[in-house]
Amino acid sequence: MISPAFTQLYDIVEANLVSNLPKVEADAEVLGRAMEYSLTAGGKRIRPVLILACCRMSGGRIEDALKFSAAAEFIQTYSLIHDDLPAMDNDDFRRGLPTNHKKFGEDVAILAGDGLLSAAWEVIAEDMASCAADPQMLANKAKAAYDLAAGTGVRGMVAGQIADIGSEHCLCSPEKLDFIHRNKTAAFIKACVLAGAHIGGADGALIGKLSEYGDCVGLAFQIIDDIQDVIGDPDKRGKKTGGDAENEKSTYPALYGLEQSQKKADELLEKARGILRELPKEEVLSDLVEYLQKMVR
Ligand code: IPE
Ligand code: IPE
Ligand code: MG
Ligand code: MG
Ligand code: MG
Repeated sequence: MISPAFTQLYDIVEANLVSNLPKVEADAEVLGRAMEYSLTAGGKRIRPVLILACCRMSGGRIEDALKFSAAAEFIQTYSLIHDDLPAMDNDDFRRGLPTNHKKFGEDVAILAGDGLLSAAWEVIAEDMASCAADPQMLANKAKAAYDLAAGTGVRGMVAGQIADIGSEHCLCSPEKLDFIHRNKTAAFIKACVLAGAHIGGADGALIGKLSEYGDCVGLAFQIIDDIQDVIGDPDKRGKKTGGDAENEKSTYPALYGLEQSQKKADELLEKARGILRELPKEEVLSDLVEYLQKMVR
């Protein structure tokens, strides 16, 4: 686990995850099982925890961000199920278990991903409808929903994923690699930071600083994932190492070498520390930086 402060929010995320999944009809029972299988396989829950932490540090109540945090983990889980498909990265293990398509077949895995993505927006819409009597909270949640949609969609994660698969078997340009990493990974992480901040009622100055933090940590996150794909322990990661080289992916180590990638990650994390020094104290945000730092080498 990342830290005691992180664990406190992680436990809240866990307690509100499966219970927020829309129930599936008996005739679609396998879909429900496949969705729950990947959701409960044991992710780190970094994105939903960031939503709760950023809501709290912006002066909001954690209870107000619970539904958005569950929804973010539904989106994260869908993205991993689809990322692992044979047509994408073709991976057999995820979160320490056989990937969704290995367990249920590709057809079910595609639909389980679709189901989780739609479930996220169902839960968010329901949550927003329940604050109709509080126009300020409704407006805050509309901003949060916008950031989450944009960060995970065709101007965020999905754009990064299409650029990622289009950059296999060749080394892309540094600009393209930056596009891939900022979109496929950083955009979603930053969206979670901003969504939490909006729900908590953050002002423009705080949103600006948190946006910079999200950019730094988000980009560092994917560079470190690339580094760990080279030097990491598959048991600890719950997924295999060496897959990027096998698929001839354009990654930081492939383009710049291991040492330069580690240096870039160090720089981004140091920048994130600097940003945090200007913000109200929120241990979870600094704990995440130090957790990532430990994974650089
Ligand atoms: C994996 O994200 C996908 C990347 C962006 C590298 P995480 O490392 O947060 O995976 P889980 O959710 O903990 O399984
Ligand atoms: C990030 O990239 C995946 C998503 C945005 C879903 P990777 O393909 O490197 O993630 P892992 O290593 O499979 O978790
Ligand atoms: Mg991928
Ligand atoms: Mg992958
Ligand atoms: Mg990876």
